[in-house]
Amino acid sequence: MKTTIAEVGKHVGQEVTVGAWLANKRSSGKIAFLQLRDGTGFIQGVVPKNDVEEETFQLAKDVTQESSLYVTGVVREDERSPSGYELTVSKLELIHEAVDYPITPKEHGTEFLMDHRHLWLRSRKQHAIMKIRNEIIRATYEFFNNEGYVKVDPPILTANSAEGTTNLFHTTYFDEDAFLSQSGQLYMEAAAMALGKVFSFGPTFRAEKSKTRRHLIEFWMIEPEMAFMDHEDSLKVQEEYVSHVVQSVLNNCTQELDVLERDRSKLENIQAPFPRITYDEAVELLHKEGFDDIEWGEDFGAPHETAIAEKYDKPVFITHYPTDIKAFYMKPDPEREEVVLCADLIAPEGYGEIIGGSERIDDEELLKQRYDEHNLSEEAYKWYMDLRTYGSVPHSGFGLGLERTVAWIAGVEHVRETIPFPRLLNRLYP
Ligand code: 4AD
Ligand code: MG
Repeated sequence: MKTTIAEVGKHVGQEVTVGAWLANKRSSGKIAFLQLRDGTGFIQGVVPKNDVEEETFQLAKDVTQESSLYVTGVVREDERSPSGYELTVSKLELIHEAVDYPITPKEHGTEFLMDHRHLWLRSRKQHAIMKIRNEIIRATYEFFNNEGYVKVDPPILTANSAEGTTNLFHTTYFDEDAFLSQSGQLYMEAAAMALGKVFSFGPTFRAEKSKTRRHLIEFWMIEPEMAFMDHEDSLKVQEEYVSHVVQSVLNNCTQELDVLERDRSKLENIQAPFPRITYDEAVELLHKEGFDDIEWGEDFGAPHETAIAEKYDKPVFITHYPTDIKAFYMKPDPEREEVVLCADLIAPEGYGEIIGGSERIDDEELLKQRYDEHNLSEEAYKWYMDLRTYGSVPHSGFGLGLERTVAWIAGVEHVRETIPFPRLLNRLYP
């Protein structure tokens, strides 16, 4: 019977056939151990010389790394195996022989692995990271669908910018100028006025000349936007959502977290509510910690965020940033115009900002003023103003960066390993 490695548990004691690649092997004169993978999982195939035909044992000894095979054998329960099962192989059929697979079980440098990303994805570690990424996406849809949100897809080719003009990817749209989307937010605000509670999940692009472990040129964002919700309501959604995602990975990715040697205790207590500090308090805290380089009104860098995050064992919201360093659409605090009703959510363990969000300006006059201050063309942003002209309501939203969230939850040092084909400064291949 044909099955997959993930499904062998349903066939204990029976003979099955799986299509697989050879990940690794070792053999002696009498027995061969094949580490097999089929995409759904990993399993060991045991080939005892005395119980199989001669050519089967010969093939087991000769088969090269990443050759593809049909493997037939009886499924056995095995407590020592991470998957819980093992195959006692009776027959092997070579589908295709791989010669000189470049990624051997020895250590390779990062640039070499990045040049072979299309093959590196097959490794056990990369497999585990992709499964966790998938679980986060699944749990995201689950959370927002359960909460009555509608999934809306904003455009990727746009005529205007959402997050400032410094890092836009320019292209042409027939005779017009166009940009790759930095954020779907402005469109999601329009969608919230039509559908109430909405969320998007899509690629975003930033031509950032940053070469850090947290920056990608192309990354995926989840952007919820909610009509009739204020800043405080939005923080509640954020902490509930992030908690749900973390607990889903803990429940559904046990093997993957083991492969990555992720310290589970650091994730178990990620439950709402999350701590909050204001930007003012954060500056004070940083001064106490000896960061003399930061002054009120300046944005935090990675070392500052890490120092703040180290004070907590959960993600922490930094709220009420100075108006001047935040985006044009953020609503000022009515009691203190020099700060905005916004929050960045900083992940623990130095993984940095995973969410940026705010309440949005809902007053037409104030938004007009911001257009002037930020030199935004009234014509290009006319449609966005319409959302304030026709039945304006308080509304809030946020954007969660998927890759930084994967890096944190999976415990992966660099975001380049959290997306199948990373786009980085100086890397567009493969
Ligand atoms: O803080 P950002 O720039 O916020 C926005 O784009 C808002 N318009 C979102 C909204 O309110 N709908 O980006 C949101 C998140 C960041 O917190 C970070 O996790 C991620 O996107 N992010 C990046 N991830 C990888 N590489 C980059 N270059 C990133 N830039 C932002
Ligand atoms: Mg931000």
